[in-house]
Amino acid sequence: MEEARLKKLMQRYPAVADLRLRACRRIPHVAHEYLEMGTGDEAGLSRNLEKMAEVTLMPRFMFGELKADPSTTLLGREYRAPFGVSPVGLCGLMWPRTEQVLARTAARYRFPYCLSTVATQTPETIGPIAGDMGWFQLYPPRAREVRADILQRVRDSGFTTLVVTADTPVGSRRERTIRAGMTMPPTISARFVWEALTHPTWTLRTLQEGLPTLRTLVKYAPSNDWRDVTQFVAQHVGGTLSWDYLREVRQEWKGPLVIKGLLHPADAEIALDVGVDAIQVSNHGARQFDGAPSAIEALPAMVERIRGRVPVLFDSGVRTGLDIIRALALGADFVFLGRAFIYAVAACGEEGGDLVAEILLADLAANLVNLGCATVADIRKIVAS
Ligand SMILES: Cc1cc2nc3c(=O)[nH]c(=O)nc-3n(C[C@H](O)[C@H](O)[C@H](O)COP(=O)(O)O)c2cc1C
Repeated sequence: MEEARLKKLMQRYPAVADLRLRACRRIPHVAHEYLEMGTGDEAGLSRNLEKMAEVTLMPRFMFGELKADPSTTLLGREYRAPFGVSPVGLCGLMWPRTEQVLARTAARYRFPYCLSTVATQTPETIGPIAGDMGWFQLYPPRAREVRADILQRVRDSGFTTLVVTADTPVGSRRERTIRAGMTMPPTISARFVWEALTHPTWTLRTLQEGLPTLRTLVKYAPSNDWRDVTQFVAQHVGGTLSWDYLREVRQEWKGPLVIKGLLHPADAEIALDVGVDAIQVSNHGARQFDGAPSAIEALPAMVERIRGRVPVLFDSGVRTGLDIIRALALGADFVFLGRAFIYAVAACGEEGGDLVAEILLADLAANLVNLGCATVADIRKIVAS
């Protein structure tokens, strides 16, 4: 994006919070609820954000001129910043082509973009755009042939890193999306028509791109009809994940393997035994189990247990550059964001990816220096001092 245009957008939307407000206005109610929802009473949603905000860091001063360099290395690859895009399913419901926009930004800025199994674009479409910044998240298909085929497609499309999500043993009760009238397949009700008419840009873009569907999985369903695809997912994906299943995945995937969604250090210990290359502490953005601790509360015990044997990745409740630093200060090696990236694309379309990257990089740089750090490694030195 042109520098002048980027500057203008940064003036208008200086923080992810501004993008969230605009996104909420631009997308239909049902998409908004799907993006924002937690589960149950949604105490977990606020817990993730509140516990994050409670993390304070003692700054050190008098280092002269510090120039922030947030670059870091993870799993043998260099990244320009210690953050990346968490996998988000059904992205196209929030904004058509979200996956393309974020994959392009990730490749341009050089941070990871993780494509979900239940995204609305295929690995074949997104892999070449993401280049060597592409990661793929696997929800476990029951049939081994389907799993092998997906992994082959992912490999052939150039994805470097596989993420297996552990924290969805069953679908959560999505009370908010039920209240909003979200059905699979979408039903064309009077409410739906009203929402379409009152969000014309979203509607136009959706008509241009076609109704969002789980394109990666269409191949395995009896037809590309919504009903068939969603039924396939309900019956054939998930519910099977066990340590034995993960062992099989470990044998099939030779590249870096991440397990996402662990909170209990004892689970991480078993995962290490299976041979994963990184552990991602996450509570799925509080969308699965409302009784779980906030992810940031669970992080220190995990870091202590892992003791540097593999990198500890983190997500859930990260909205700012300062939040990224908070998680790094508590021992994470790398940080991911889910909703923040989607707000950006829903708010600003094709420009949203680069805009949120710039916002996070600027916030990260300013807060690094204000803490007394130039690099990611400095954060731990300051915390330990
Ligand atoms: C709309 C939405 C869809 C998601 N879909 C997936 C998914 O398909 N696979 C997955 O592993 N996690 C999924 N997640 C969880 C994210 O990967 C990530 O853990 C979470 O968003 C982090 O919390 P944050 O939104 O507070 O950053 C989803 C999250 C959201 C908000």
